[in-house]
Amino acid sequence: MRTISKFIFLLSTMLLLGCTNDSESDLIDPVDPDGPVTYNANIRAIINNNCLGCHSDPPQNGAPFPLTNYDQVLARAQNGQLLRAIRRQTGEPRAMPPSGRLPQATIDLVAQWIEDGLNEQ
Ligand code: HEC
Repeated sequence: MRTISKFIFLLSTMLLLGCTNDSESDLIDPVDPDGPVTYNANIRAIINNNCLGCHSDPPQNGAPFPLTNYDQVLARAQNGQLLRAIRRQTGEPRAMPPSGRLPQATIDLVAQWIEDGLNEQ
């Protein structure tokens, strides 16, 4: 092999490895690493920003129930409706919010809250 093609071979191998080798920061879970996820610290803001336009008390725009406090959100988390609704793909019937799916990291945070035991604080 001529030196130049050896060089190109080496370079492309390095590039290929660079792409397949995850850096440590890619591997860190986006979910809050410092202890359990709580309603007060993590979940309330997600609901306030994305859901209360309709799930207010009283609800608007045809929403079937309010999600304005811990107990109301807890009930929907416990019966499975909350996570199912936010996991649906945009445009699917009953996908929440109807305007478009939340970022995956936000959905993961809600899932983590449920796994961590639905703590209020
Ligand atoms: C634009 C208004 C609107 C927004 C914003 C909205 N919802 Fe809804 N939501 C509705 C309506 C309307 C329904 C009833 C849908 C149906 O039964 O077809 C509903 C139903 C639901 C249901 C029941 C779904 C089921 O499977 O029966 C859940 C849970 C829910 N919403 C959670 C949320 C959450 C969590 C958010 C924020 C991330 C949110 N919604 C944002 C209007 C909204």
